[in-house]
Amino acid sequence: MNLLLTNATLVTMETNDTGYQLKANHFINIINGKIAQIGGMASCPLLSSGKQFDCENKLLTPGFIDCHTHLVFAGNRAHEFEQRLTGVPYQEIARQGGGIMTTVNATRKATEAQLLAKALQHLSGLIKDGVTTVEIKSGYGLDLESELKILRVAKQVEQQAKIKVSTTLLAAHAVPPEFKDSPDRYIDYVCNTIIPAAVDAQLVDYVDVFCEGIGFNLQQTERVFRAALSFGLGIKGHTEQLSNSGGSALAARMGASSVDHIEYLDETGVKALAESGTVATLLPGAFYFLRETQLPPVELLRAYKVPMALATDFNPGTSPIASLLMIMNMGCTLFDLTPEEALRGVTCHAAKALGLAQQRGQIKVGFEADLCLWNIEHPAQLAYEIGTGLLAARIINGGLCND
Ligand code: NIG
Ligand code: FE
Repeated sequence: MNLLLTNATLVTMETNDTGYQLKANHFINIINGKIAQIGGMASCPLLSSGKQFDCENKLLTPGFIDCHTHLVFAGNRAHEFEQRLTGVPYQEIARQGGGIMTTVNATRKATEAQLLAKALQHLSGLIKDGVTTVEIKSGYGLDLESELKILRVAKQVEQQAKIKVSTTLLAAHAVPPEFKDSPDRYIDYVCNTIIPAAVDAQLVDYVDVFCEGIGFNLQQTERVFRAALSFGLGIKGHTEQLSNSGGSALAARMGASSVDHIEYLDETGVKALAESGTVATLLPGAFYFLRETQLPPVELLRAYKVPMALATDFNPGTSPIASLLMIMNMGCTLFDLTPEEALRGVTCHAAKALGLAQQRGQIKVGFEADLCLWNIEHPAQLAYEIGTGLLAARIINGGLCND
């Protein structure tokens, strides 16, 4: 299907640009779902087949990419939210068998249809904010059957909603009760059973590990990454969220596409990211919701030119926030990002975090025609306003969506 967009103001977000580089009065010719031609209206081709859409000089950005979510789960953790507000820490709730395990228990019991209905409900919030690509992690199953169930639901999300999905196996999210006394045996099970089965069923793009005191240690993390790499999968990590345990540097050395959270990352860790080209994914939603005070090393990341992505980390325990625009605002207000950095964080840098830098996250000839049209006068408005209905239209795979 072909689509000709006319009279657009382009915010292309090309990786090597600095500044917004607005291009007013432009057209984009989309052929078979890809950007085929971009130029000034003076050289706009005449429509031979397909549709034409007048952008009325509104701003057009790449479709937004939420590169870290736990979208598929059952139940909620409102009760633990109440507990935390009376002073019980997040780690303490986890140690008492709540936290991630609360959601695992509910998710194991749920059917695929129930999980899908809830995931689509939550996804609608992201879609309203211009998300056209979403990463979805497993990690609330922690056994073969339930981890695969979650990944299958993630694939169904892609079929049912107009969205591109990248899937990540996070079986190493917590030690399930069946392996309570032998976490290393659980890691054997993840490496020898769950990863091969997920690969076999073609359900997985990336493998992730929660490397933390309440998660897995460096040695266990390295074993999971090795198993993933042996199957040709990409790797990424939940690292340095609650302490500095060296998970980011390990992940970077092993070629991770991204390390995520990283509030406790130090300069050695930042250098390791710079050397490996690993993206630093910042998750201000979890920082906000857990009322953390340790800020990620944004100045150092800038100094070492590490690309910073921003994501919702949508999940029931630490970030029940299905709004990427809100997260952009938090990136600026809580982490001191500039609005331009926030926009790069959900476009070109988020694409890199998912290994999609050559296809998505920029308006460029040859890229996928996933785009957003906004009711704004300046790109900084995207990170500045909250809840004002800024999205005018989404274009997915070259087709206009009426969400
Ligand atoms: O990204 N840090 C680990 N995992 C999730 C939260 C898991 C939960 O509490 O349910 C996160 O913050
Ligand atoms: Fe997460």
